[in-house]
Amino acid sequence: MGKANWRIGVAGLGTVGAGLIALLAERPAFSPTGRTAVVTGVSARRRDATRAADVSSYPWFDDPVALATSPDNDLFVELIGGAEGPARAAVEAALAIGKPVVTANKALIATHGRALAALAEGAGAPLKFEAAVMGGAPAVKLLREALVGDEILAVAGILNGTCNYILTRMEAAGLGFAEALAEAQALGYAEADPTMDVGGHDAAHKITILAALAFGAAPTLEAAEVEGLAGVELIDIRLARDLGYRIKLIASAQRSGAGVTVRVHPALTPLDHPLAGVDGVLNALMIEGRRTGRIVLQGAGAGAGPTASAVAADIADVMAAAARPVFQVPAGALEPFAPVPATASTGRAYVRLLALDQPGVIASVTETLAEAGVSIDSFLQKAVAGAQGVPIVLTTHTAPEARIAAAVAAMSALPTLIAPPRVIRIARI
Ligand SMILES: NC(=O)c1ccc[n+]([C@@H]2O[C@H](COP(=O)([O-])OP(=O)(O)OC[C@H]3O[C@@H](n4cnc5c(N)ncnc54)[C@H](OP(=O)(O)O)[C@@H]3O)[C@@H](O)[C@H]2O)c1
Repeated sequence: MGKANWRIGVAGLGTVGAGLIALLAERPAFSPTGRTAVVTGVSARRRDATRAADVSSYPWFDDPVALATSPDNDLFVELIGGAEGPARAAVEAALAIGKPVVTANKALIATHGRALAALAEGAGAPLKFEAAVMGGAPAVKLLREALVGDEILAVAGILNGTCNYILTRMEAAGLGFAEALAEAQALGYAEADPTMDVGGHDAAHKITILAALAFGAAPTLEAAEVEGLAGVELIDIRLARDLGYRIKLIASAQRSGAGVTVRVHPALTPLDHPLAGVDGVLNALMIEGRRTGRIVLQGAGAGAGPTASAVAADIADVMAAAARPVFQVPAGALEPFAPVPATASTGRAYVRLLALDQPGVIASVTETLAEAGVSIDSFLQKAVAGAQGVPIVLTTHTAPEARIAAAVAAMSALPTLIAPPRVIRIARI
């Protein structure tokens, strides 16, 4: 008996959708199942748009929901984007009738992952999203399949290429944040509205998904603490370097007895840390397993080719009928993370102060720390050409974050300071 073709409906024909159409046209027999993937319907907003791939031979659907429920396809691929609107409606409609869904939509999975998993598992339909995190690098498969034998203690990554590009260019070319962002936009790395990227929200979606997979919990976006790049200045990048660190936007999820911490924030990352040397638009992920130890994955986190390759890998899995719970644990048993209470969080911090050049300043700063019970790891007083006042930089030993915050609040009140203290956490994973 010959093996039947797999009929695929593709909604969204932008960067990733056109990349997938091109891949399927070039390699229709890419799946190791011996079956051929055939596009039997496409949908997007503008029917007459000029696209990066030729879609003229495929049946057109104005409505992605109609494509999702069409009996002319066996698998629905959602590449529209967004947590709500047509993407959500179409994915829900496909799953509700038991049709397998492949998506690259991190916002949708991070926001509605648990409900969609319940819908998918209830209907016996796979829901797969490899392309939602780290583009072509198989982060989802690694956690969802390859590492299920271990217990994951922590994951930490550089998950937003735009932010990493900006930080890399600030350091390498001495650019200010705004200049580096403008350069990223001119090169097409950053959207016209960069809020999702530089605000840390895109990375928050991705780390929420990875945390859910790593810890067998429901994606709990609202538990993520998110701080974007906007406060990072060139002076901090330079001073951090003097202290033996690079500043990276680190997305991390860590499990302890007290619960789970999911965070996105700029972090001083030691130069010998696997994430410190990741430059430009690359993404990287570090996984700490109880038994496997440290695993590091690095690759192109975006772009038509890498992302379409991840979508195609999911399509191949569906064609091979590899069915597993969507998030490691059956949806009915998924619980949200128990976040670590703010009072129980500990960490290290870099604090930069701009002080008047007069005696007694350093003593008053160290006193505020001593009073809060925070000890100093390193201390640097360094004149920066053209800067007003004297920058004082210190790093703390590990201390309750609430105490570090109390010390910084006390410092802010010192009359000898010219500007509010700038605090950046030091990477702890
Ligand atoms: N770009 C990447 O490198 C990358 C990497 C990983 C994951 N992703 C994810 O992949 C998804 C797609 O991203 P993308 O970069 O390919 O986006 P994109 O280039 O903006 O393309 C979006 C597509 O969706 C269509 N669309 C928008 N609103 C629609 C509506 N109301 N009804 C029907 N179609 C609609 C657009 O139609 P028109 O073309 O007609 O306007 C367009 O074809 C997102 O979830 C994104 O987060 C992207």
